Amino acid sequence: MSVKRIAVLGATGSIGRQALDIIDTSGELEVCALASGSSELETLAAERGVEHAQVGGDLMALLDRAEPDIVLNAVVGFAGLTATLWALERGVTLALANKESLVAAGELALRAREQGGGLLLPVDSEHSAVFQCLEGRDLESVDSIVLTASGGPFRGRTREQLGDVTRADALAHPTWRMGPKITVDSATLANKGLELIEAQFLFGLPYERIEVAVHPTSVVHAIVRFRDGASLAHLGYPDMRVPISYALTYPERAATPVEGLDFANGLSLEFEPPDVETFPMLALGRRAGESGGTHPCAYNAANEVAVGAFLAGRLPFLGIAGVVEDVLAAVDGAPAGDLDELVEADEQARRLAEEAVGALVS
Ligand SMILES: NC(=O)c1ccc[n+]([C@@H]2O[C@H](COP(=O)([O-])OP(=O)(O)OC[C@H]3O[C@@H](n4cnc5c(N)ncnc54)[C@H](OP(=O)(O)O)[C@@H]3O)[C@@H](O)[C@H]2O)c1
Repeated sequence: MSVKRIAVLGATGSIGRQALDIIDTSGELEVCALASGSSELETLAAERGVEHAQVGGDLMALLDRAEPDIVLNAVVGFAGLTATLWALERGVTLALANKESLVAAGELALRAREQGGGLLLPVDSEHSAVFQCLEGRDLESVDSIVLTASGGPFRGRTREQLGDVTRADALAHPTWRMGPKITVDSATLANKGLELIEAQFLFGLPYERIEVAVHPTSVVHAIVRFRDGASLAHLGYPDMRVPISYALTYPERAATPVEGLDFANGLSLEFEPPDVETFPMLALGRRAGESGGTHPCAYNAANEVAVGAFLAGRLPFLGIAGVVEDVLAAVDGAPAGDLDELVEADEQARRLAEEAVGALVS
C-alpha cells in the first residue's frame, strides 16, 4: 500500500497532536504539511522533516503547495473553513474535526463535495460513530440517530448555580481532554448544538430524527435506530485517537494503542434527556439548524465571540447563551449564495455578538 500524505491543520492543538501520534506510529501515513494559528511549528516540522509548515496565513495556499492525499482539518473555529472547501472542491479526502466549518457553511460544503466527489470522513467521535453504524446501509432503513453528550462539568446544576461559575470550572471536563473552546462548548451544550447541525449536513436526516441523549461516561458515542426496531451503538472508552485513526486509515481500521472495553471492571450505560432549560445552547442550535440559511453560521459566529469573551473574563458563563440568542434574533439568516456572502454573514454576526457582549456587561 502506498504511503498517504497528510496535511495536519491545527497541528499544535489537542486533535492535531493526537493525530501526529497516530501518524508517527503508522508505517503507512506521513505528514506533508503542518499549520497552526500562532504557535511556532519549527520543532514539529524539523522532527518530521516536513517542508510545508505555516503559522497563520492562507491555508489554501499551503494546501496548494503540499498537495496532500488527506486534509486533517483540526483548526478550531470558522478559520478552518477555507481548508474544508479546498479539500471538498478537489475531491481530496477530508478528515474533519473542524465542525464549525460544516455548521457555518453546510450548503456550500455539500455543493463542493458533490463537485469534488471525494470522501468526507468525520473525526468528531459521535459522527464517526454514526458513520460506522450506517456504513453500507440504505438511509431508508434508518429511523433516527442519537448523539450522546457527557453533559459536561455542570450536569445536574440549576441555572441559579451557574451564575458565578469560573473559566477554570468550565474547563474541568469530566471525560474528555480537549482544547479550551470546545471544552466550554461542552459545558454550555453548544457543542451538541453544533453537532446536531453537523450531523444533519453529514447524514442528511431531518432534525426531528436527530436526538441528543446525555450519557455521563461517554462510552456510547452514538446510536442509530433502524426501522425494524433494532438499534446499533458504537462503544469505546473516550479517546479521540480512535476516530482520528479511523478517518486517517479508512477503510482499513488500523491498530491503535487504545484499550478495548473491559467488562470485568463494570460499565455504566446510563442515559438521561438533556436539560434544555438550564443549557439553552442546545435548543438554540436546533432552532438555528431548522431555520437554515445563514442561521447556523450566525449561531456559530456568535458562540465563538461569546466563548472568547467568557474565556477572557469579559462575560459570565450564562451570558454566552444570552449573546447567541440576541444575535439569532437580530439576523435575517438569508442563505449565502457563495463564500463572500457567507463571510459577510459571519462578520455581521460577530459584530452583533460583540455589541451584545458589551450591552450585557455594561
Ligand atoms: N479536542 C477534541 O477532543 C475534539 C473532539 C471533537 C472535535 N473537535 C474539534 O476539533 C477542532 C480542534 O479542536 P481542539 O480541541 O484540537 O482545539 P485546540 O486544542 O484549541 O487546537 C486548535 C488548533 O487550531 C489552530 N488554529 C487556530 N486558528 C488557526 C488558523 N487561523 N490557522 C491555522 N490553525 C489555526 C491552533 O493553533 P495555535 O496553537 O497556534 O493556537 C491549534 O493548533 C475544533 O473544531 C473542535 O470542535 C475536537
